Amino acid sequence: MQLKNDLLLRTIRGEKTERTPVWLMRQAGRILPEYRAVREKMKGFVELVKDPERAAEVTIQPVDILEVDAAIIFSDILVIPEAMGLPYEMVEKKGPYFPKTVRSASDIDRLKVADISGDLAYTPEAIKVTKRELNGRVPLIGFAGAPWTIFAYMVEGAGSKTFSQPRAMLYKEPALAHRLLDMITESTIAYLKAQIEAGVNLVQVFDSWAGILSTEQYKEFSLSYISKICDAITEVPVTVFAKGAFTSMPAMQDLKCDTLGLDWNMDVLAMRELFGDRKVLQGNLDPATLYADNAVIEKETRRMLDEFGPYGHIANLGHGVYPDINPDKVKCFIQTVKEYSAGMRS
Ligand code: CP3
Repeated sequence: MQLKNDLLLRTIRGEKTERTPVWLMRQAGRILPEYRAVREKMKGFVELVKDPERAAEVTIQPVDILEVDAAIIFSDILVIPEAMGLPYEMVEKKGPYFPKTVRSASDIDRLKVADISGDLAYTPEAIKVTKRELNGRVPLIGFAGAPWTIFAYMVEGAGSKTFSQPRAMLYKEPALAHRLLDMITESTIAYLKAQIEAGVNLVQVFDSWAGILSTEQYKEFSLSYISKICDAITEVPVTVFAKGAFTSMPAMQDLKCDTLGLDWNMDVLAMRELFGDRKVLQGNLDPATLYADNAVIEKETRRMLDEFGPYGHIANLGHGVYPDINPDKVKCFIQTVKEYSAGMRS
């Protein structure tokens, strides 16, 4: 189907679009009262993710309310561990918790490569419902976690500041770590392919915990697996967002992906210089900017747009929007991107 608003896809193709496209990581959920109303009707987060009709409804909310240029399917990166045999719970105000973790070879023996049509069919189903209801208004983004980030949660068993258990495994049992990373990668490729078949227009790989590895370890235990994913996904554009992967950015030139996400600590001009027009860049306003007054948000957003320049840029925050941000501040960011970036062309 022909999309009514294909700014995002034209930007990725390298076209000189009439303005900069904008969307937000973590736009679906938390910040919107409309999301919380749907969420309260459900037993929990996991149940909402597994309900295609409701997942589609909350996926579309930010398109209607915030007027973003893309929807991102409502799900979580942690559905992969669950389908591999490691279920998760989402504990209110605390985050993910895994009753079982992976610490030994026998723990890995009990896992399987995810069977998408058997255990993860709810995401492709939610994508089909969303596509139907979006009716071509904006592109739909599919996603998955990068294998290293998924590995970190499976070994640690919860969120953590240090993720010391997964990092310990890289030193103590590197072969075991590679075995698990291989299984996650295979599951992730199959999962992304199923999302593409169901209709997503592009996919994003989130490496939220990229920043806690050394450059050498990042190459061996993360980038090599992201690279396999990028090689395997040939059907739609791929975005890689590796938060905090400062020293590994030069190595990202070799990834077969179209877009790289930048977090708010990354130097936009240096990244432009590094990648030229070979990669589209996405980001990178500090999410904390949205706690400030509109005047500050407008000023900082304009500064960011000036740094990236008019083309080859997808406006976003440098990480997911924080849960206690007022949606009006998000709207201010989005409207500023739309108006100011259109003006940059004239
Ligand atoms: O709008 C969207 O981005 C679509 C949906 C989406 C969710 N999670 C829904 C969600 C996406 C893309 C994710 C990705 C995700 N999940 C990441 C990568 C991006 C990042 O932020 O670094 C990570 C690390 C997770 C794991 C996860 N899920 C954590 C750590 C938490 C708890 C803390 C938090 O951010 O709220 C979640 C919960 C979660 N995932 C919520 C939502 C809407 C909130 C929980 C709720 O509604 O009860």
